Amino acid sequence: MDQAVIEPALADAQQAGRFDLYAGVHKALRLYMTDTLARVGRADPADDDEVAGAIGQLRDLLELCDLHIEDENRFVLPALEARRPGVTERNAEEHVSHGQAISALRREAAIVERSGAGERPMALLALYRRLGLFVAENFEHMHYEETRLMPALWAEYPDEALTGIEAAIVASIPPMLMARALHWFLPALPHPERVGMLSGMRENAPPGAFAGALEIARERLTLRDWRRLAEALGLPSGDATVEAVAATVGGLRIAERW
Ligand SMILES: [Fe+2]
Repeated sequence: MDQAVIEPALADAQQAGRFDLYAGVHKALRLYMTDTLARVGRADPADDDEVAGAIGQLRDLLELCDLHIEDENRFVLPALEARRPGVTERNAEEHVSHGQAISALRREAAIVERSGAGERPMALLALYRRLGLFVAENFEHMHYEETRLMPALWAEYPDEALTGIEAAIVASIPPMLMARALHWFLPALPHPERVGMLSGMRENAPPGAFAGALEIARERLTLRDWRRLAEALGLPSGDATVEAVAATVGGLRIAERW
């Protein structure tokens, strides 16, 4: 990849503190992809539970990748095309090929699941390699979006319009997938952005969603990061925090709250 693709507008806009549609979600996806790749890579072919766990995480990742492509096609690319016809052509084509790659990964995962003890090591290695290529292509693709498409969006739209696009995306995401995404957003983002995300949820999300997000934060963050977050949100940082917040929303189970 040409490393000199970063447009001058990118640095200017970042300095001006413009709202970035891609940066946060792409950090979450990069973490989710690399964690899943490593998990598939270290799965012991002779250990059924490890293999099932790795393939389960892979299937969950692919479901979120499908959703991410759908969201971009539905909400982001049309906004760009409306102002700069043709600018999203490369991106739209790559979304089609990523969809095909996702299907191929699902087929290879099924081959691993069906394989006997003799074939499983090679089937697992083949899945790991294909996933590695998928991750590599996605890393380039996300870089292109962040450095070429985002500056075009900044040039064409004010931040109010961009936050409106993000709100429409968030509103369209099924609750269970939102909870899954949070598992990767929270450890992928820097502290101030975690605080911003959780504060926004406290203000705007459905009742109970904030408590569910806190449970995910406590599970996924280091103790130090969890304490910083709780403090910044004005919550007691002990283990009682999540239970206390959950009690205020009726003690519903997390899946029901989302
Ligand atoms: Fe994309």
